[in-house]
Amino acid sequence: MDSADIANDLTEVLYTKDQIAARLAELAAEIDRDYADKNPLLVGVLNGAVMVVADLSRALKIHCEMDWMAVSSYGSGTQTSGVVRILKDLNAHLAGRHVIVVEDIIDTGLTLSYLMQNLATREPASLQIMTMFRKPAAIQVELDIAYVGFDIPNQFVVGYGLDYAGRYRNLTGVGILSPAIYS
Ligand code: PRP
Repeated sequence: MDSADIANDLTEVLYTKDQIAARLAELAAEIDRDYADKNPLLVGVLNGAVMVVADLSRALKIHCEMDWMAVSSYGSGTQTSGVVRILKDLNAHLAGRHVIVVEDIIDTGLTLSYLMQNLATREPASLQIMTMFRKPAAIQVELDIAYVGFDIPNQFVVGYGLDYAGRYRNLTGVGILSPAIYS
């Protein structure tokens, strides 16, 4: 689905499919250099990261492996605790592995803050974060993020894995959702 297919649903296109692909190629080149001969394990956080992992892994020139986690946001109802429930854990053992956690977006940072603490206890050789999008104005916790695609405004964005009520993940670019859709 392209932005032209849902033109009335977006107030603005932030990044097109081609701009995302170009930025991903730059990040992949960095990861190629940083992880040569390390066979990194890309850990995708479902569901949003599916597109990023699929595209990043194919843009890499080095070998990598993939695994997936599913989490629920912030436990039972408390928005600020940052406690994340693991709905699906990894199949892979992390001990001694070079791990890159891959996200579509970091908003408050609470999900990854919790996840990174959890994954660090599994004794990986290294543990880094790659996110396609980040909202600097929304961040609530300090996170060391090795690879960032784009910093975006603190608005309701959809596309490239990001959803509203389950929809728009298959939009090839990323745009700001019109308030008319969700109000
Ligand atoms: C999104 C995104 C991150 C999280 C970031 O997932 O994929 O996992 O929110 O938000 P935070 O920085 O404020 O913690 P979401 O819970 O929307 O699930 P989804 O990936 O299935 O869309």
